[in-house]
Amino acid sequence: MSNSPLFSGKKIVLGVGGGIAAYKSVELMRRLVDAGAFVSPVLTEASLRFVGEVTFSALGSERARVSLWDEDDPIPHTRLAQQADLIVLAPATADLIARYAAGIADDLLTTTLIATKAPVVVVAAMHTEMWQHPSVVENIAILRGRGVIVIEPESGRLAGGDVGVGRLASAERVISAIEELFAVEGRRVLAGKRVLVTAGGTREAIDPVRFIGNRSSGKQGIAFARTALDFGAEVTLVTTVPVPEGSGVDVVQVESAQEMFEAVSKVSGKCDLVVMAAAVADFRCKEISPTKIKKGRGVPQVLLEPTPDILAHLGSVKPENQVLIGFAAETGELEAEARRKLKDKNADFIVANNVLEGDAGFAVDTNRVTLVYDDSAMALELADKKDIAKKVLSFVAEWAQKKGVWTV
Ligand code: C5P
Repeated sequence: MSNSPLFSGKKIVLGVGGGIAAYKSVELMRRLVDAGAFVSPVLTEASLRFVGEVTFSALGSERARVSLWDEDDPIPHTRLAQQADLIVLAPATADLIARYAAGIADDLLTTTLIATKAPVVVVAAMHTEMWQHPSVVENIAILRGRGVIVIEPESGRLAGGDVGVGRLASAERVISAIEELFAVEGRRVLAGKRVLVTAGGTREAIDPVRFIGNRSSGKQGIAFARTALDFGAEVTLVTTVPVPEGSGVDVVQVESAQEMFEAVSKVSGKCDLVVMAAAVADFRCKEISPTKIKKGRGVPQVLLEPTPDILAHLGSVKPENQVLIGFAAETGELEAEARRKLKDKNADFIVANNVLEGDAGFAVDTNRVTLVYDDSAMALELADKKDIAKKVLSFVAEWAQKKGVWTV
């Protein structure tokens, strides 16, 4: 399977249990990687009796892991669990299924499983008698009850010459189940929409070496672009921070506010939704020194001038069918400031956050925001930036339909 937008950039943990079908998960992993997913293999100790760590390291997107106690990564389970878009257990043995159902967390794979909020797909494989044993039947029912997707084994030749139900489902079946999951998850609320997102902080040059910058990491903006893509939109991302190739969005790399303004102006008129998540500098140097300013010449006087306010400009030329979202990073009166910006810049939504909170705002992976729109404000709980993007975009899409801004 070649690169697919549904898989592109998705982080998948492939958990491998100790069964003879473990060799087949090498092929599954290769296909997931080919489809564009970032696959982190996690092997149980028992699986090492059937397959080698090196094989998974060589074909996966990063090295295979077995132990919770790796010296170079003190908490691998939380990293894997938090970053994963999906965990696939293939093969899931009777033992692994039981440990997962019981919440046992005594190795890297089982700790990752109970530390994650990502969906989990269990691809079961074992001998027929084991598959039919009441304990396995009950454990499978428990997992299904918790929303785990179980792909049942297929019928055919088993280890030791037996024939019956128990064979690991084919890679095609597993991949199409994952595809369906990703598609449904995305809910496609932005299908057919053109979305423009800006991300990162602009850099305003002082001389060829120095610049005026800010602390924005671009993480929230990139999460918006990714989510819009997952929701079915055609996405242009104008960004000051680099984004890996093949992410599925159309990336325009810029540096200064002026460059961002020009890149945004080229596409904004055709867009149904603009998300101005970038931290655009308010001031730039009136004159940029063409050569490095020398220390020996004394303290330089740097004269500043305003940059173009991109959001305000977009607000002034906003087409009827466009939704415009601005951001407000504040340190004080959050809602009042956001409401003022909503009005002044003719935006439809302001996503406001208090950048003085340690777990929200710049550089961290989580955010706590308040959505200010019409005469309302809605505070969202602390969540990772991807979840914030999902909630905001779902809400905005529904709002735009109800208001009649989007008619289709
Ligand atoms: O006025 P303030 O800079 O706080 O407004 C923040 C919002 O305005 C953000 O959405 C930011 O992307 C946008 N902005 C802009 N151009 C500027 C400054 C801010 O588009 N020059």
